[in-house]
Amino acid sequence: MTAGGARSVPGLGRAIAPIALGGWLTLGERLDAAASLRLLHRAIDGGIDFLDVADVYAGGEAERIVGRFLREVRRDRVVVASKVFWPTSERPEDRGLSRRHIHAAIDRTLQRLGCGQVDLYFCHREDPDVPLAETVQAMGDLVRAGKVAAWGTSCWRPATLRAAHALARELGVAAPAVEQSAYNLLERSVEGGVLPTCATLRMGFVAFSPLAGGVLTGKYLAAAPAGSRGAVSSWLAAYDDARCRRVVARFVAACAARGMAPAPTALAWVASRPGVTAAICGATSPTQFDQNLAAMRLLVDGHDLAWVGGLAPVSLGVRARALACALRRVFLRTRTG
Ligand SMILES: NC(=O)c1ccc[n+]([C@@H]2O[C@H](COP(=O)([O-])OP(=O)(O)OC[C@H]3O[C@@H](n4cnc5c(N)ncnc54)[C@H](OP(=O)(O)O)[C@@H]3O)[C@@H](O)[C@H]2O)c1
Repeated sequence: MTAGGARSVPGLGRAIAPIALGGWLTLGERLDAAASLRLLHRAIDGGIDFLDVADVYAGGEAERIVGRFLREVRRDRVVVASKVFWPTSERPEDRGLSRRHIHAAIDRTLQRLGCGQVDLYFCHREDPDVPLAETVQAMGDLVRAGKVAAWGTSCWRPATLRAAHALARELGVAAPAVEQSAYNLLERSVEGGVLPTCATLRMGFVAFSPLAGGVLTGKYLAAAPAGSRGAVSSWLAAYDDARCRRVVARFVAACAARGMAPAPTALAWVASRPGVTAAICGATSPTQFDQNLAAMRLLVDGHDLAWVGGLAPVSLGVRARALACALRRVFLRTRTG
């Protein structure tokens, strides 16, 4: 694996570009179907080959849009990931990581995507109400049935990842191949446990929110721009404190001094970190997307980005993450990422 080149995804037998595109709050939500499809085509034309959605994104609409997109491109040009866990209805059986829900949810996801197999299927969180062995067996059975090529985890703790691997060995089924967690300059807690665990277990790692939801672009240093995520939701509240603002201001100033744009620099920094397979960014406009895509060039050119990490202590992430988790608990019954 090189910093800028494609990185192989454990369990998939193929490599992906270091920058990926996600659909949370964008596909089918901020962007209507036509604008979403244009963004997806722009992404694939720009060299992105990994799309990340979930059954809950835009109430299933994000998967439907990706399904339409898959009918317009060659299926093997893109790795498609989706997720299961968060409630998709008020009914108790439409949530969590029980065998019953996993099997029902994958069939609905495949129907919305209009294809026979999801490349990567993530357990969107841990489910404390279901025995881990039941979840591991169910996900392994999906791999065996060919409905998913490989399965992964999202925001799972290192101990749970280790337990899942041990259970998969015992049960003779596929183990989780990729973990997906938040990772950005303001949120570095994965460096303390999840990333080393993924390395030990030979799992891939894909980072979500590499721009801290847009905060690292510097646009919230002044009043939140109208219509931005920070202006229309509480999702960025975890980053709204004096320490985060200081780091962002330092980062934006350091980028300016180097003649670099903050968005691609923040994105490329995450994608260049040891153990990171890809950084999944989001975009609500073609302009944003094009700015972010410039990260690919920084990686290919092998820009030295070590200075970026020096601007934020690893411990900053622990605090931001604790706040984010508290917030997510509050909002988890509404809309989920
Ligand atoms: N597994 C999980 O639990 C989980 C959780 C979160 C996300 N994810 C995945 O990760 C993907 C990315 O997460 P994210 O959306 O939080 O990533 P992000 O790249 O940190 O934030 C994306 C948002 O920042 C703003 N933005 C992006 N580029 C910009 C630019 N160049 N200039 C100014 N603003 C810009 C846009 O929001 P506005 O224009 O609205 O301001 C955009 O929607 C999601 O789509 C999803 O697939 C997974």
